[in-house]
Amino acid sequence: MTQYKIPMSSPDLNDADRQAVIDVINTPILSMGKYTADFEKSFCDLTGAKHAIAVNSGTAGLHLCVRAAGIGAGDLVITTPFSFVASSNALLFENAIPVFVDIDPKTGNIDPELVADAAKNIEKYLPRTGSKVEGRKSVKAILPVDVFGQPANMDAINAVAKEHGLAVIEDSCEALGATYKGRHAGMLGDFGVFAFYPNKQITTGEGGVIITDDDKAAHFMRALRNQGRAPGDTWLQHTHLGYNYRIDEMSAAMGASQMSRLDEILSKREQVAAWYESRLAEIAGVEVPFIESFTTRTSWFVYVIRFDGKINRDEMAKKLKARGIPVRPYFLPIHLQPYMMERFDWREGDFPVTEDLGRRGLAIPFSGVMTEEQVDTVCRTIREEIIK
Ligand SMILES: Cc1ncc(COP(=O)(O)O)c(C=O)c1O
Repeated sequence: MTQYKIPMSSPDLNDADRQAVIDVINTPILSMGKYTADFEKSFCDLTGAKHAIAVNSGTAGLHLCVRAAGIGAGDLVITTPFSFVASSNALLFENAIPVFVDIDPKTGNIDPELVADAAKNIEKYLPRTGSKVEGRKSVKAILPVDVFGQPANMDAINAVAKEHGLAVIEDSCEALGATYKGRHAGMLGDFGVFAFYPNKQITTGEGGVIITDDDKAAHFMRALRNQGRAPGDTWLQHTHLGYNYRIDEMSAAMGASQMSRLDEILSKREQVAAWYESRLAEIAGVEVPFIESFTTRTSWFVYVIRFDGKINRDEMAKKLKARGIPVRPYFLPIHLQPYMMERFDWREGDFPVTEDLGRRGLAIPFSGVMTEEQVDTVCRTIREEIIK
């Protein structure tokens, strides 16, 4: 296995975060206790949401939102193929149909004009097998993703949702702390979801949080998270078909501690992104991330550069890895994942912008604990490999 000089990502944990976990394991309550409640409250405090529901992954959070929005078999949901697979998988879990539209080539976020067109002319956008799906219904929701920590153009998306009476589930798994026109990512639709895998801005090991202002949906999702137990149910009574999507107290304690210094964590990531930008912007053939004017704070998740058409991304990735720099193509389009192609007959060429960014994008090492020297090493190696 290649030994890398610099890790691809690193959690940003301090002694207080570690102590928080030790505090929990010195108590008898390891699930459904005070730390989960504190962790949830930190999200209401940050975003102004009425409800925050902590779960054991971002995927679980998205799935609960899909259930709460009443999305079921045959329902159509307009979403993006340029994302981590979980945003579409959450729909497939309920046998709903993801209807993909292409993305903005600058940001990689879903293109609101295509969302508007799809809401009006859905037949044009259905997967090849879509019209054959038994029991196919109408468009029920839009599921935009805040890609790489930058919010989608949510005002434009919400306008389409309003016109057509659709729910909006904002996948903010990559965008904790980002703001759009001064408003918090995750609060821009009916539901927002964050995720805390160790490469995320804050981590709980595994974990997620849903935020919403909808009382009824929040109560339903709390019940579904806890094996379908409604308020008043005993341990062995289950009003609904539910799941075990509970977060444990150790994870919640780590998360609450991390949330108390979110601003510091995001600022460190901003600094690393700025170091990268100043060095990479000068290298011919390398594009740095584009930030929209309506993004009032980017919450840097990964740092994805794009090579121009003359540079072979995969060759470059091999060379960088051989020199001890870990890199990863980002994203491999969802519609080209084998199970998606098999189920919906998506083909190469169906979403050209997504495929183009998927072919040219490369995530380079990134975290808030990177040093300027490490950033220098990465940038120098990229420059040397390009001019070779
Ligand atoms: C856009 C997006 N959606 C959903 C998820 C799923 O989160 P998790 O890995 O916590 O299930 C992720 C996490 O990688 C993500 O990046």
